[in-house]
Amino acid sequence: MLYWLYNRLALMLRTRIKSIAHYVPEQIVTNDYLTKYMDTSDEWIRERTGIEERRYADKHNETTSTMGARAAEKAIAEAGITKEDVDFIIFATLSPDYYFPGCGVLLQRELGITEMEVGALDIRNQCSGFVYGLSIADKFIRTGTYKNILLVGAEMHSMGLDFSTEGRGVTVIFGDGAGACILQPTEDENRGILTTHLHANGTHAEELAMINPGSHGGYYLGKEKYGYPDESVPGGIFVTQKMVDDNLLAGNMTGQLVFKTAVTKFPAVIKEALKATGYKSSDIDLLIPHQANLRISAFVQKRLELRDDQVFSNIQKYGNTTAASIPIAMSEAFEQGKIKDRDLICIAAFGSGFTWGSALIRW
Ligand code: UT7
Repeated sequence: MLYWLYNRLALMLRTRIKSIAHYVPEQIVTNDYLTKYMDTSDEWIRERTGIEERRYADKHNETTSTMGARAAEKAIAEAGITKEDVDFIIFATLSPDYYFPGCGVLLQRELGITEMEVGALDIRNQCSGFVYGLSIADKFIRTGTYKNILLVGAEMHSMGLDFSTEGRGVTVIFGDGAGACILQPTEDENRGILTTHLHANGTHAEELAMINPGSHGGYYLGKEKYGYPDESVPGGIFVTQKMVDDNLLAGNMTGQLVFKTAVTKFPAVIKEALKATGYKSSDIDLLIPHQANLRISAFVQKRLELRDDQVFSNIQKYGNTTAASIPIAMSEAFEQGKIKDRDLICIAAFGSGFTWGSALIRW
């Protein structure tokens, strides 16, 4: 009986993005500024990635959670609700304030709504974290479980980058920021989230990863490289001196493999969403791809035969902000009038894991 009722509700309700907002820190870091620390150039970064500048948070006064909270406050105000109306929190990030607990509870505390004791879920799906979070939120809303879900994607990459030349392939790409939205049910069958599609393949898990600190003890990649676990105690330690000495505490990326995989998975997962709903790529009013690299977005645009005005890009200003990149882009597109009532919006992401996904939304 309950199952039947859930199914009925799921058919009747759709999930609507009621509001979308973003927060980016004030400090602008240009490509030229990075040349002070590593052997790189403005020309190389622009040509290979499209990035002109990115933002870095104030490391003494900001964290991933506080940036998420600033974006959340705006999203809550724009949705016309109060913080106390939020009945569930979903937080996607790969650069959490702490190893644990996750950012969801820290955001709840920063917003001053601990008394409500609403649930807080942390998502660890890197660049596709926002799409995964949206898909989960959609299921909760459509089953009638929650009415005001706060979904946040935020990153403070600047605290975990290698600023030597060795780290340049990763460091120049990433920036800090946060995006947030309020998701609500709607009975209007012709609007809201129409479909979501999630994928993963762990074959290349270490090719775009920050593998330390972790519990692996060298299991996957060799103890010689990562240091043998301490045999004098029954357990181990997340960070060994060898990891510190060998500079193994920053993210690593095999850029070309990620690039080649991304340019096939992005179009495939977008086509999957179109097929599921019966739309064609020409029906998309705006594609908001995860801002990974301007060349990746150009590939996807070409593959789907989209016009320039159908694809949104702001990587030039913010770099790659991972889980925050889609909500920041969506928020800016909305502010600029590029998302209008009833427009067909497509979002798609690909990244570490590898994980990827897409969603089609009737605004
Ligand atoms: O959001 C998560 C998903 N991430 C992505 O989607 C990223 C996908 N990958 C990429 O966007 C590109 O592969 C990168 C932008 C990371 C790199 O661009 P690339 O055209 O694939 O360059 P590459 O890694 O093949 O390196 C080419 C050369 C190398 O020098 P040599 O060996 O040819 O002498 C690198 O050492 O460029 C060098 N290089 C740099 N030079 C100046 C790498 N990084 C830099 C740098 N500045 N920052």
